[in-house]
Amino acid sequence: MSQHIHELIDKRWSPRSFANKAIEMDKLEKLFTAASYAASCYNEQPWRFVYATNEYPEGYKQLFSCLGEFNQMWVKTAPVIILTLVAKNFARNQNPNAHAQHDLGLAIGNMSVQAMSMDLYLHQMAGFSVEKAIEVFNIPDDFEPVTMIAVGYLGDPSQLPDSIREMESPKRDRKNLDQLLFDGDWEKLK
Ligand SMILES: Cc1cc2nc3c(=O)[nH]c(=O)nc-3n(C[C@H](O)[C@H](O)[C@H](O)COP(=O)(O)O)c2cc1C
Repeated sequence: MSQHIHELIDKRWSPRSFANKAIEMDKLEKLFTAASYAASCYNEQPWRFVYATNEYPEGYKQLFSCLGEFNQMWVKTAPVIILTLVAKNFARNQNPNAHAQHDLGLAIGNMSVQAMSMDLYLHQMAGFSVEKAIEVFNIPDDFEPVTMIAVGYLGDPSQLPDSIREMESPKRDRKNLDQLLFDGDWEKLK
């Protein structure tokens, strides 16, 4: 089936080894612009991003310090780190926005496709300290950190520690569509 899927979606995967090559500023801007073109509930655009390139060591170190131990072992080769956040409430009426994380996901989906079109790879992470991110970046109460992302060009896996190198593969492990699709009554089809 994968040969019928758009190349930019099909070739995406999440590497842990990145090349020692900076991301050009115009490309970085395109990643964020693509993210900002996503649909969102009431067009609230609840996504926010804190980012740093490794050419700005102070900001890079701050982001890096929020990562969990496992992720720190490999993120160090990524030239860019991003922290993603959402606004918890609608700006229009201050009610909780139950779809903010959904909308952020759409934005990062756009970013992934734009990245692939420029041979850049994202590796999204839940393994970071939300509390530390709030403290380090002085994040106000009405915003919530959601993920961190390592971004860069594909690197040589030999630079990874052994245990992580074994995991480095574009091989896709996915559920079959018959485990995901329900046509009619959920119970009858299980
Ligand atoms: C929200 C989210 C959180 C993730 N957290 C981590 C993480 O903390 N560390 C890590 O190495 N990979 C993390 N991943 C990567 C997933 O393991 C990976 O996307 C999944 O195994 C599918 O592989 P693929 O992206 O190469 O297709 C995360 C992915 C997502 C979308």
